[in-house]
Amino acid sequence: MAIELVKDNKIWYDNFMKILAIESSCDETAAAVIGDSGVILSNVVVSQVDIFAAYGGVIPEVAARSHLEAILPVVHKALDDARLTKDDIDYIAVTYAPGLLGSLLIGTLTARMLAILWKKPMYAVHHLKSHIYANWLRNAEESGADVPQFPLIALVISGGHTQIIYMSAHNKFEIIGTTRDDAVGECFDKVAKILGLPYPGGPAIAKCAAGLDGGCVGDSMKYKLPHPKIDGLDFSFSGLKTAVLRAVQADCGLPITTPSYELAQHLSDQQRADFAAAFQATACDILLEKLQIALQGHPEARSVVFAGGVSANQVLRQKALEGQKMGSNGIFGRGDIETYFPEPKFTGDNAAMVGAAAYFEILNGVKPVDPYHLNILPRTPIR
Ligand code: KG4
Ligand code: ZN
Repeated sequence: MAIELVKDNKIWYDNFMKILAIESSCDETAAAVIGDSGVILSNVVVSQVDIFAAYGGVIPEVAARSHLEAILPVVHKALDDARLTKDDIDYIAVTYAPGLLGSLLIGTLTARMLAILWKKPMYAVHHLKSHIYANWLRNAEESGADVPQFPLIALVISGGHTQIIYMSAHNKFEIIGTTRDDAVGECFDKVAKILGLPYPGGPAIAKCAAGLDGGCVGDSMKYKLPHPKIDGLDFSFSGLKTAVLRAVQADCGLPITTPSYELAQHLSDQQRADFAAAFQATACDILLEKLQIALQGHPEARSVVFAGGVSANQVLRQKALEGQKMGSNGIFGRGDIETYFPEPKFTGDNAAMVGAAAYFEILNGVKPVDPYHLNILPRTPIR
């Protein structure tokens, strides 16, 4: 789709679909305007991470209250940044599942109200689907960008989910592997607490391991941490978290009865960095091993897409690229597979990905939802 011209001092795309998308499932209040093929016209994210860093995690009631304060200014800014008004918008899209109940309510009530008042068709999008569709987002100047091909295998790795999802086509999902206990992002967050690092734990562990927090550079080989013994494509991360706990206790010469919140004060900077590096490398290896098994079971797959907050991890990206070079056959022993990671700023929660997911629903003939009767579903599998 060619971008036509700048008209009347605002960007104007001839015959160009424009979707106003809203996301508020956890602790980011976000709105974006997305055009045809997932082109980003604006993207606004207000994060509550500074509030929750002080508590060491998200407090649902506080998150809902913060969404309420931020949502309308965020929607206005998304329209202003795109240099559009409500009249230019063709569709409204919103996250309706899964997530925190109060947080989802603020986003969906806002979207429902706007859809009714502005008389726009509305699309309700599953959050994990949005994370996957972050791989289709593109800037206007990249309109011919390379996109994932079907069938594909998606590795969805966030704070609440760790799943391998097979997609035969747009909007067709089959969960072929899932975690039996903690999500990998949750494991990063819990291990960070043990090591005395701030929330959210993923970026804090990555920085600490690389010495980017002003400390030492970690040695990922210093501690050998176990891989779970689970056949097939399911994951388990609670054992890895406990293994870090026990290894820290042992390395500091403390009894196993020492509570986890007392351990950090006993760690030297070098120990903390080594544990961060060893844990990060092990978590990434576990993810990539299962992905490789999934690829072996699906020789027809043409692409691998990574999705969710943990896909920002640079060690994971590097290891996946090394996997691509592995042997003479390309990624994970397969020469015919292309790997996709979202741009780092679209790995965490944002509304641009919601707009991209809605775009491919609209394109494939999915019917809009009734804004008078949209229910939120805090716990429901991808659909
Ligand atoms: O997708 P997301 O923003 O929110 C959910 O839908 O859950 O994912 C948040 C998770 C957190 O657990 C956070 O620690 C993790 O993603 N995360 C990372 C990194 N950045 C965020 N984990 C590892 N490495 C990172 N660089
Ligand atoms: Zn998310």
